[in-house]
Parts: sequence; C-alpha cells; structure tokens
Amino acid sequence: VRQVSTVAVLRAAVHEARVAGRHTVLVPTMGALHEGHLALVRLAAEHGDHTVVSIFVNPTQFDRREDLAAYPRDLDGDLEALGELGSATPAVVFAPTVADIYPRPPLTSVRVEDLTDRLCGATRPGHFDGVATMVTKLLHLVQPDAAVFGRKDFQQLQVVRRLVADLDLPVAILAAPTVREADGVAMSSRNRRLDEDGRQAARALSQALRAGVLAARDQRASGGRLSSVAVQGAAEEALAAAEGIEVDYLEVLLPEELSPAPRWLPADGQLLVAVAAYVGGEVRLIDNVVVGDQEDEERLLAATA
Ligand code: PAF
Repeated sequence: VRQVSTVAVLRAAVHEARVAGRHTVLVPTMGALHEGHLALVRLAAEHGDHTVVSIFVNPTQFDRREDLAAYPRDLDGDLEALGELGSATPAVVFAPTVADIYPRPPLTSVRVEDLTDRLCGATRPGHFDGVATMVTKLLHLVQPDAAVFGRKDFQQLQVVRRLVADLDLPVAILAAPTVREADGVAMSSRNRRLDEDGRQAARALSQALRAGVLAARDQRASGGRLSSVAVQGAAEEALAAAEGIEVDYLEVLLPEELSPAPRWLPADGQLLVAVAAYVGGEVRLIDNVVVGDQEDEERLLAATA
C-alpha cells in the first residue's frame, strides 16, 4: 500500500494511473476500518484496477465536538488491514491531515436540499453539508471513474447520488450492502465504543428493521397492498420493547426521495425503514433496510435470525 498524505502527491499518483489507462475507483472513509469498509474496498477492486482509499476524519461533518474527539482513529491498523486484502489491496491510501484538506477555512460549501431535511439531517445540523462538500472535494482530487459508498449510510448514499447527478460529475456511484456482526448489529466504527451491555442493546435496531420486513412479508403473503403504517407500527413496537437505547428516529420513507411514504403502496412497492438511536447514553448508531428490495430484505433476515 502506498500511503500518501499531501494533495500534490495524490494528484501526481492519480495522474500517473490515468495516463497508464487504469480505471480508478475511490473508497472514501473516515478510517477505523472494519469488515464493512473492507467489503467496499473489495467491491472497488471488482470494478477497477486502481483503488484509492481515503482516510480522513472530516471535522466539518461533525455537529458535536465530543463526537469528533471520540471518533476512533487507527491509521496503523487500517494500513495493515488494507495490506492484507491480497489482490484487492488498494494502490493508494490517501490519509491527509486537516491542514492538507483545509489549508484555510473554506468559504464554499456544497448543499443538497430536501434529501437532507429528514432522518440524520434533522438532528445533525450541517452534517450533510460537510459530507457533500468533502465528497465533492475528494471526487475532484482523485477524479475516479467510480466511487463506492455503503448502504448503511443510506441517506448519505442518496445525497451523493443526487449531488453527482445535479453537478454532472463524471463518476459512477457504486452501493455496497451493509455488513453485519454475527448478532445482526450493522458494522460501524462507533461499535468500538460500546461495552457489553451496549452491544446487547444495539441489537434492537436491526431487530426493529426485521420486524418491519416481516410485517411487509405478511402483507405480501396475504395478497394485499403494502401498508407503510403497518411496517412502521411493527418496527416501532419492536423498538419500544427494547432496553438501554434512546431512539432518535424511526422513519418509513420513499427510498429515492426520502419523502414521507403514502399510506398504501403496491404489493411490490419499496419503503426505506431507517432508525437511529443512542446506545449506552452517547453512542449514536444508525441502520436501515429497504423493504421491497428482495436482496436487502434477505440479507437482513439472514443476519438477524
Ligand atoms: O461515510 C463516511 O465515512 C464519510 O461521510 C465520508 C463519505 C468519507 C465523507 O467524509
């Protein structure tokens, strides 16, 4: 793995690869890599022959200073894990400092409207402006043919897709499935901050999603239309029974627009069920499933059984 920290060296490396006719795929991360990130890197290797992984804890997307300070950092561990990926090992790891990325306080930001009003946008002011601006910067720095984002951050994925479309950025956005722990908990760098009780409590998020999927399956099995209210009710009921978590939101929305779902959808309609909760007081976790996306449903049910 070639580690690069300055913008100038990064630009030279990606230029070299482009001249050599290589297909660059970017995997933007904030480090503290877990199996979920490694799956993104493997997907990148399937789609190109020059993977660039960026590792940067972007301060402008943290709305709470404590969360930024507590965000796990482990560059040595990250480099080691990436180096062990065999043929999927990235060509370049871009791990800049804050001064490399923001040599002076930026006066410019990228804002995606509407999609950022709900879910995490409602409770984390400025978060998605920070993400959209950072992703735009990274896409300009690396100029990849494709970039990989995880479905776990579903709202982020949709925000990125929209900004790429709206700004005509010449990059393909690839979505990678959520990777889960053996107990169904979605992998997250924040899981490192949970103690044993917290880990136990965290299961409530994926279990609530499971309840939502099962409710939708019941409706399909009985030949009926899909009731967003029933899906939401089932997920809420599961969440209400959980201990040790404080729910931030549980929402059932249309997956593309992230807008409120109608009361009824066709039997094969799609609904995003998204949940965020504080576990053990201060660790904020998120999870989601798209009901009606058979693969997403199957993966969730298999992992939470
Ligand atoms: O998903 C993340 O880790 C971050 O939001 C991203 C995309 C790297 C932007 O800082």
